[in-house]
Amino acid sequence: MVKFTVNGEERSVDLPGDTPLLWVLRDELQLTGTKFGCGIAQCGACTVMMDGMTRRSCVTPISMLEGADVQTIEGLDDPETRAVQDAWKAIDVPQCGWCQSGQVVSAAALLREIPNPTDEDIDNAMAGNICRCATYVRIREAIHNAAKTLEG
Ligand code: FES
Ligand code: FES
Repeated sequence: MVKFTVNGEERSVDLPGDTPLLWVLRDELQLTGTKFGCGIAQCGACTVMMDGMTRRSCVTPISMLEGADVQTIEGLDDPETRAVQDAWKAIDVPQCGWCQSGQVVSAAALLREIPNPTDEDIDNAMAGNICRCATYVRIREAIHNAAKTLEG
């Protein structure tokens, strides 16, 4: 039995220790906003926050989760995430949408760390989030716009 917190709620799961967190989120907890893309930590679609850091949930075994604090796209409600989501909607960043929860989680994490990122900061921080619809130019613009709104 592994006990951890997801979006502020205590959860416990009784599954083999090598079960990926992504499986637990989607299949056990019905938190399907976090997506499966590659399953091998290469695309970023499954990105969540764990203990304040971005994590690829597809390669995070639940044996690592005891006492962890996990936040998914459904539960993130901090100023950076809200600013990113508003900026995303304002310029229609999403196309098919599949990669987008991971993009938003990573973008908000970047803004919490670097409030006014350069293009290079953005490209470095977002390099692990692949978008097959190639929304990269708009992602970069939306992150700059979100940073401006957070500046007040
Ligand atoms: S599904 Fe986890 S990085 Fe691609
Ligand atoms: S919006 Fe389609 S993969 Fe990114």
